[in-house]
Amino acid sequence: CVVAGTMVGKRVKSRRRWRKVVKILEEFEEGCATPVEKLRQVVDAMAVEMHAGLASEGGSKLKMLLTFVQNLPNGSERGVYYGLDLGGTNFRVLRVQLGGQRSAILEPGVERQPIPEHLMTSTSEVAKFELFDFIAASLQKFVEKEGNGSVALEGKLRELGFTFSFPVKQTSVSSGILIKWTKGFSIHDTVGKDVSECLNQALERRGLDMRVAVLINDTVGTLALGHYHDEDTVAAVIIGTGTNACYLERSDDIIKCQGLLTTSGAMVVNMEWGNFWSSHLPRTSYDIELDSESPNPNDQGFEKMISGMYLGDIVRRVILKMSQESDVFGLSFSKLSTPFILRSPLIAAMHEDDSPDLREVARILGEILEIGDVPLKVRKLVVKVCDVVTRRAARLAAAGIVGILKKMGRDGSGGIASGEVRGGSHSKMRRTVVAIEGALYTSYTLFREYLNDAIADILGEDISPHVVLKVMEDGSGMGAAVLAAAYSSSGQDTL
Ligand code: GLC
Repeated sequence: CVVAGTMVGKRVKSRRRWRKVVKILEEFEEGCATPVEKLRQVVDAMAVEMHAGLASEGGSKLKMLLTFVQNLPNGSERGVYYGLDLGGTNFRVLRVQLGGQRSAILEPGVERQPIPEHLMTSTSEVAKFELFDFIAASLQKFVEKEGNGSVALEGKLRELGFTFSFPVKQTSVSSGILIKWTKGFSIHDTVGKDVSECLNQALERRGLDMRVAVLINDTVGTLALGHYHDEDTVAAVIIGTGTNACYLERSDDIIKCQGLLTTSGAMVVNMEWGNFWSSHLPRTSYDIELDSESPNPNDQGFEKMISGMYLGDIVRRVILKMSQESDVFGLSFSKLSTPFILRSPLIAAMHEDDSPDLREVARILGEILEIGDVPLKVRKLVVKVCDVVTRRAARLAAAGIVGILKKMGRDGSGGIASGEVRGGSHSKMRRTVVAIEGALYTSYTLFREYLNDAIADILGEDISPHVVLKVMEDGSGMGAAVLAAAYSSSGQDTL
């Protein structure tokens, strides 16, 4: 009778703890809710902040950086150009042969390598030299390997498109000053320096006949490659380790640079939307903790809710809270308290586990978090947390994209003046292409579906068919090479 009583007591306790966990999940889900009305508020806030950032320097958390890119490639570029892509987890060098008529051949032998951890956060006095020497050394190795089968450059200086995916205050299309680091990078004595100059000097030190023809953000490379293939491309978005967007803005609307004459009447603006903020964003206590414990508190708020660098850590924080409030994840102390241990590919793998007993979820919990075998209902709970975090991220990114369309007058909300071809009906809306890159969108099916669905929900069925999201594989690196061609000293046909 005593034994039976104890067992009943245990069951009651365990039910109570389970209820607690479910309550944590429900509260989290509620905090992350993104009904379409909320998304529309985010759309409006994005458009308002874009205006403010264009009106004056420091007018908004959105920096709306000038890129000096006024001509986008149109497919007629010719020649051999190089691209160098630095800014995510990997760093890469590539060589592209452009044959006019939109033919761009990415030559084999593309190098992709991880950036050594110690270089990303170096505090050494010579850190700046170490990073750029490392890049120059990789370029040198790459150039030394070419030859066989590649078109000779006939003694011409090699021209390089340098994609540097951090906030940069451009001083020309080929130079610019680093404003701050993001995405976990922090290298001593580099903020305030001209990054092209640093690279050009490192190239010179190695005696390489190469120079930076354009210095660009990864969003700008993606837009350039998108436009190279399809001239309806007017904006680009990256959702990878970090997140950001750029678009083609009318010069007249860039109030803060009136007087800076542009030849084509438009300029690409790098929004740095990772730093967007609005009280309409659905923020939870987990986001607040993640932010305050990060190396850049109060910074990159939108990025911390959307991009691959952070999604896993939000999931980890929710599971940690659940494990602290109950024993559903067992009693032994797991790795759950280790920041950033759950990376976004693992979140995608758990979320998309379609085995009936969620084997992959169990494997990841066991191998990465050292949480012993947990019952199916707990595995389902983990999948649900991944779903809530991913869905919110994808829907917020979608709202950001529609915000850009709104600012450009291409969301269908403003009649003829707003992107509709004369004649007025939505069936005559101008086709708008947004180039998109980054592993969250390209490799995480559920993320992509959530984002696409949210765009359709916000825009409605009349407008959404006119908006095309096009994946631009290798956009940031290839786009840099193509832009180097468009801005090459040898002169190319551009728009
Ligand atoms: C970060 C950088 C931004 C970049 C984005 C995507 O937000 O600040 O420049 O475009 O990551 O890589």
